Amino acid sequence: MSLFMLLALVFLARALQVSGQSTFEPQPYCHPVSGNFSSNPDYWLHATPVLRAHWWFDYASLVRRQYTDYWIGWKNISYLFAFGDSYTSTSFNISGEKPSPSSPLGNPPYPGSTSCDGPNYIDFLTTTYNQSYIQAYNLGYGGATIDDSIVKSGFGSAVQSFQNQVELEFLHTYVNNSEVPWTASNSLFTIFFGINDITNSFAPFASHNDSVNYELVKAYEGLVDELYAAGARNFLFMNVPPVDRSPGTLEVGTIDQSAEASFIGAFNFRLGAFVYNLALRHTDTTLFTFDTNFLFTKVLDDPWQFGETAGYLNTTEYCAAYENGTKSLTSFDPSCGIPVNQYFWLNSLHPTYPMHNFMGSQIAKILSA
Ligand SMILES: *[C@@H]1O[C@H](CO)[C@@H](O)[C@H](O)[C@H]1NC(C)=O
Ligand SMILES: *[C@@H]1O[C@H](CO)[C@@H](O)[C@H](O)[C@H]1NC(C)=O
Ligand SMILES: *[C@@H]1O[C@H](CO)[C@@H](O)[C@H](O)[C@H]1NC(C)=O
Ligand SMILES: *[C@@H]1O[C@H](CO)[C@@H](O)[C@H](O)[C@H]1NC(C)=O
Ligand SMILES: *[C@@H]1O[C@H](CO)[C@@H](O)[C@H](O)[C@H]1NC(C)=O
Ligand SMILES: *[C@@H]1O[C@H](CO)[C@@H](O)[C@H](O)[C@H]1NC(C)=O
Ligand SMILES: *[C@@H]1O[C@H](CO)[C@@H](O)[C@H](O)[C@H]1NC(C)=O
Ligand SMILES: *[C@@H]1O[C@H](CO)[C@@H](O)[C@H](O)[C@H]1NC(C)=O
Repeated sequence: MSLFMLLALVFLARALQVSGQSTFEPQPYCHPVSGNFSSNPDYWLHATPVLRAHWWFDYASLVRRQYTDYWIGWKNISYLFAFGDSYTSTSFNISGEKPSPSSPLGNPPYPGSTSCDGPNYIDFLTTTYNQSYIQAYNLGYGGATIDDSIVKSGFGSAVQSFQNQVELEFLHTYVNNSEVPWTASNSLFTIFFGINDITNSFAPFASHNDSVNYELVKAYEGLVDELYAAGARNFLFMNVPPVDRSPGTLEVGTIDQSAEASFIGAFNFRLGAFVYNLALRHTDTTLFTFDTNFLFTKVLDDPWQFGETAGYLNTTEYCAAYENGTKSLTSFDPSCGIPVNQYFWLNSLHPTYPMHNFMGSQIAKILSA
């Protein structure tokens, strides 16, 4: 057995040593070897063996990071700017009530309108796993893709892509705004994209290949650079969960599930490579990555090993009566057999809130470590 395999097994063993309100021990960020990959097109398309090995190794953990002076700690974060799609959105209206001590996420009333039938991970991070008073500006928008010119949302032109969230909303509203006095060190930028980009470009899978991932991550990189130029220094990146295991994929029947899984893997690989590269290009950034794919896989395989998800009894299908959300956190419809919060999937693509609770708790642990 090679040393590499041995190390991988040790990591796996550690990752499995969990029970109840458990966590995965965050691994230290391995500072990358010197080099400037961004100017080398091969970097994107055929990552070097060193980089592959690094990412593969690192993939076993939930986090990789580099700390800088701008990161004073989770307890010192006062402003959270969230970018994402329906997994992130609380339906915040940027022109409506602003975040304030009595309403840390502004509008609509807590937990907002989410895709998980309860509070989502941004809600949990802001009001449950926070260690300070946080004002959260959640620009996430249901159906959003990274850049409509690469993969269209498919849900109409009102949908705000990552590009719109950055350029039309964030830069326009929250930069040079004395009412929102965020700084490099009192703010955290969370970014969670790729689900819609993948499901929308994969569905007509005939024409699909990894070059779209290349374009997507390149656009993603450009948008993060715009945030950086505006002063953002602390980032949390989340990769794409295994939506190849969602009821939406399974019910179509004709989608090659393992091909979708590889496509997600390819996107996530590029995203990891982007973060690796970002650390090289901007050495004054603090970067956290959250391996959403790993966490979802663990829970879907065995939800009972974690306190937050131990209530799940059905991890494979959703119940139609619950698909558009329910009246209470524990609503029960006889046609579903069990209450809504005992289903992992609320509908064809979205998990219910216990999974978001778990995500929030694990993200906070990484941020506080
Ligand atoms: C890395 O390459 C990019 C693109 O060619 C260039 O703009 C940048 O200055 C290079 N950075 C370093 C540190 O050499
Ligand atoms: C960070 O937060 C802690 C606890 O609230 C506080 O004691 C400390 O002064 C803060 N550090 C800075 C640099 O603001
Ligand atoms: C957002 O709030 C503004 C101001 O109250 C309102 O005019 C607008 O219709 C709202 N937008 C949505 C999508 O609800
Ligand atoms: C966390 O946020 C909630 C809601 O804003 C607030 O009531 C609570 O005091 C915060 N916790 C800490 C430790 O500051
Ligand atoms: C913010 O203000 C600075 C200094 O005046 C200016 O250079 C920068 O372009 C402004 N940024 C935005 C996004 O308006
Ligand atoms: C990948 O897809 C793009 C866009 O459909 C196409 O232009 C390109 O030729 C394809 N590449 C390969 C290697 O199939
Ligand atoms: C999961 O829920 C669906 C929809 O109610 C049901 O058809 C299926 O039998 C359930 N699966 C398990 C393992 O309970
Ligand atoms: C949920 O909403 C969709 C779209 O509006 C609709 O087709 C479906 O019937 C709704 N399901 C339930 C249980 O109300």
